[in-house]
Amino acid sequence: MGLALALLLACPGSRAQALGPQGAELAGRLGCLACHALHGSGVKLAAPLDGVGTRLTAAELAIAIAYPRQRHPRAKMPSYAYLPPMEQAALVEFLQSLK
Ligand code: HEC
Repeated sequence: MGLALALLLACPGSRAQALGPQGAELAGRLGCLACHALHGSGVKLAAPLDGVGTRLTAAELAIAIAYPRQRHPRAKMPSYAYLPPMEQAALVEFLQSLK
């Protein structure tokens, strides 16, 4: 276990992968798909999240999650600024992987 973790942290590319599933799990748990579609499922109250990683930078994604109204003043999306920074980062990482 300790060795696997060390290998994981030593390999730059695998960090994103390690966070990826966590971000996807968070997105499910936080109900993002109650408004956004992804991979053809979910609700279409808001723009689908497919490809959002090519449309927005990491900084823009971080703001979209924590302060949605800064990007879309009339958006009904809740702010996720209450999440621990690690979880916000995991979500950004997950959204960035949606290319
Ligand atoms: C109550 C509905 C709702 C929920 C829940 C919600 N969103 Fe949104 N979201 C919106 C709306 C409305 C917008 C405004 C622009 C649009 O239609 O995409 C938006 C915008 C965004 C944007 C910016 C898109 C862009 O092109 O500027 C991102 C990224 C995003 N949401 C991700 C998420 C994530 C991740 C979650 C879960 C943690 C989430 N949203 C939960 C409704 C929601």
